[in-house]
Amino acid sequence: MNVEVVPCDTCTVVEEESCLVIPLFDKAFPLDSSLLNEQDDLFLQTLADKGVLTGKAQSCYYAATPKSAYQSVLVLGLGAREDYDDEILRRCGGKAAEILQQNRVSHVYFDISRHDNVPPVPFLEGLVLGQYAFDVYKKKPEPEDAPVKVQTTTVITDTGVENTPLLSALQLAVLTCLSANGARHLANTAPNEMTPQALAEFARGIATESGCKCTVLEPKQMESLGMNAILGVARGSAQPPRLIVLEHRHSDDVKTVALVGKGVTFDTGGISIKPAAQMHEMKYDMCGAAAVLCAFMTLAELKPAINIVAVIPAAENMTGDAAQRPGDIVKAYNGKTIEVHNTDAEGRLILADAMAYTVDKYKPDAMVDAATLTGACLIALGHFAAGLFTNNQELADSLVAAGNATGERLWQMPLWKDYEKQVEGNHADLCNIGPREGGAITAAAFLKNFVGDTPWAHLDIAGTAWGVKGVPYWNPDHATGYGVRLLTQWVLDQVQEN
Ligand code: BES
Ligand code: ZN
Ligand code: ZN
Repeated sequence: MNVEVVPCDTCTVVEEESCLVIPLFDKAFPLDSSLLNEQDDLFLQTLADKGVLTGKAQSCYYAATPKSAYQSVLVLGLGAREDYDDEILRRCGGKAAEILQQNRVSHVYFDISRHDNVPPVPFLEGLVLGQYAFDVYKKKPEPEDAPVKVQTTTVITDTGVENTPLLSALQLAVLTCLSANGARHLANTAPNEMTPQALAEFARGIATESGCKCTVLEPKQMESLGMNAILGVARGSAQPPRLIVLEHRHSDDVKTVALVGKGVTFDTGGISIKPAAQMHEMKYDMCGAAAVLCAFMTLAELKPAINIVAVIPAAENMTGDAAQRPGDIVKAYNGKTIEVHNTDAEGRLILADAMAYTVDKYKPDAMVDAATLTGACLIALGHFAAGLFTNNQELADSLVAAGNATGERLWQMPLWKDYEKQVEGNHADLCNIGPREGGAITAAAFLKNFVGDTPWAHLDIAGTAWGVKGVPYWNPDHATGYGVRLLTQWVLDQVQEN
């Protein structure tokens, strides 16, 4: 998607497949647009008088305007001015994506010249995210039936506004949202193709493109390093595990942040097998990995003044004859022994090795992991916030702020010592499950054993990673890419604080 910023006095619409998009607060008539011609203004005013056009939050009104330079008009309802938040506009962007595609619009003119309080970035985010489709496995449509996507968005500003910072912000939004779409694509891809090795190849591609370093550990190396927790999870699968590391190095004088993503490319549950009904959804069990890889992809292109290490433990949790058994005891990278009581609690096992290794090898100033870790988190928070667990409140606050800014919200849960007791082992240091109650918290309490003193936050994205209904820029049947925009924003915020 191309973006441009043009002051209203020099903007002329020439394209045929163009649409003038105008924001409207609840009942805030007349419509404020410097490009709207008088005739269309009158027509829309009539609709407003009839109560058709209201400006209600997330309402969209589209009309063809064949007699004007622009082909059509789209009015975005932002709701009451005092209740406005960016997420309303982002969702309008998502709705707009659908309407514009139906009407084969390829050039959008977003007119905020008379709306200096309406930020164009969330609209563009919603538009780019809303245009994502997952159709690689479907028959290609005839050219005349192929969907038309918006190629260019022109943001029309008031005269005298400094446009350069706005253009950079819009370009960053496009880059980040395309990366989020990339994460959706990785996660939507069928699990027979999206194997640990395929994730490693994707990471190598990022390194080649950006010139950063990529290291991929194979089972033999993992064995000699003592990564028996991840090896145990992978034992039942024909697909060998990988530990993928991407590094963006700025200098020794800046801090290092680590991002770790759960990359279970398919989770059958292992010998503690899952019920059949929804098992196909467990191809999404690598959404944490997808979010980390694609956030890193954006950051590696931006090359911010901070050191970043992205670590992905990638494995498939299957039931082969060499599979790990309930009752097995494994020794993790940091020497702690783990009694595996449930092979379906595999995410914490692969993260245990990955995080202990990251802390030991890269000594990050802060570490954040993202994982579709527990069904319990989905039950606790539903689909509209991921769970946040931490040993460092300042880190948690910075993540919550990034979540609010991007609309990828986080909700903090406790991590008191009582929960840590619940994952102590009977015959080993730790047990990989606790009681059913508080399952998201005991999972986090388990992970805490592998981070040492490093400021760390765990994001349980089980509820937000796919299947979210009611957010127009996300497809309810697919992965959301949740975490890419949040983690990118958070890392960039860390740079400014240096
Ligand atoms: N990948 C699942 C968690 C999950 C389940 C995410 C459903 C989204 C939807 C994870 O590996 C798992 O199976 N966790 C178990 C843990 C339990 C055995 C302690 C769970 O949540 O049931
Ligand atoms: Zn599992
Ligand atoms: Zn899992």
